Amino acid sequence: MTTAKPTTIGILGAGQLARMLALAGLPLGLRFVTLDPAPDACAAALSTRIIGDYGDREKLERFAGMVDVVTYEFENVPAESVGYLAERLPVYPSPRALAVSRDRFTEKSLFVELGIPTPKFLAVDSLDGLKSAVCDIGLPAVLKTRTLGYDGKGQSVIKSDGDIDGAWASAGGAPCVLEAFVPFTREISVVAVRGRGGEARFYPVGENTHSGGILRHTVCRLGDPMQSAAEELASRLLKRFDYVGVLALELFDVGGKLTANEMAPRVHNTGHWSIEGARTSQFENHVRAAAGLPLGGTEAVCRSAMVNFIGMMPDAAEVLSVDGAHLHDYGKAAKPGRKLGHATVCGEGGGAVAAGLERLLRLTGKGLDGQ
Ligand SMILES: Nc1ncnc2c1ncn2[C@@H]1O[C@H](COP(=O)(O)OP(=O)(O)O)[C@@H](O)[C@H]1O
Ligand SMILES: [Mg+2]
Repeated sequence: MTTAKPTTIGILGAGQLARMLALAGLPLGLRFVTLDPAPDACAAALSTRIIGDYGDREKLERFAGMVDVVTYEFENVPAESVGYLAERLPVYPSPRALAVSRDRFTEKSLFVELGIPTPKFLAVDSLDGLKSAVCDIGLPAVLKTRTLGYDGKGQSVIKSDGDIDGAWASAGGAPCVLEAFVPFTREISVVAVRGRGGEARFYPVGENTHSGGILRHTVCRLGDPMQSAAEELASRLLKRFDYVGVLALELFDVGGKLTANEMAPRVHNTGHWSIEGARTSQFENHVRAAAGLPLGGTEAVCRSAMVNFIGMMPDAAEVLSVDGAHLHDYGKAAKPGRKLGHATVCGEGGGAVAAGLERLLRLTGKGLDGQ
């Protein structure tokens, strides 16, 4: 018999990712403390809450005093705050992974250093700089702010010279990268997890459909021809950071050749299907890794697909009337463009899952063809 005190995981951020981490970790006996400035953050009911800014030293000190290990649910935590916590406690994934991935320029530079193919890119700090980068990279191209972008925010596609001034204005003077537009066949992502002892596991790749820069749905692809190539690229990042926890790598598949778009040092929307679709979910494996527990299997237990509910939640009864559907309502206030929940449809055959996915997409107001 053991009377060991339960491990308490501190999460920076108390949004839906923190909520799903806590939902996965509580049955393992883990406890959670979250730090987030929003009083109504949706992980509130499942964690001890500290409401405060990530840069608030007094709140950080309190947070550090209450937890055994720190993780985070998004990239935009100030580096100084993470540095402060890392001096006192283990922070997983490594603050180095966080520092690299919060800036698109350093992230893409690392891809180049590790031999991970990525679209041609240049740093841009002025309108003149943008014009010369356009000459170098060619059009179409995508201008992205180096930091703070998510769900397609802070991005503009430049199709012709006439779009340049508008794109620069919409970036609001923030440092940017310009990158070549990739005429991809499809977008995929690989979600990986690495334990404290160095053991790495990979989930089946997800095939992802975005519109307006926001993920709309993911289909888990079993036996995908790009699985091992995607795993190999993600492995280079895991190794580089002596990584602990879940890492997602978003990739463009261009006719059977992979090009990296971005990495996320955290649980990822394209891995949400794993809650019901895998032996162990990405959330459970992330907290297992952070707590130093053995990892669980990442293999699929069924075929599955996930649909995001953005801006509005459909009627729960309608979602649940879809055979094999599981509903996740994050309990957030509705706002245009905001991720409010998701549903995963599971089934034995690809046909049944495709039919369920089509029905779920109709509930979002869109079909598989996006119409
Ligand atoms: N260079 C590119 N070429 C083609 N499409 C792109 C490019 N960059 C981004 N996109 C599209 O925009 C989406 C969001 O861009 P991403 O860089 O992943 O930013 P975010 O941090 O908002 O997820 C991508 O998933 C993809 O659909
Ligand atoms: Mg992305």
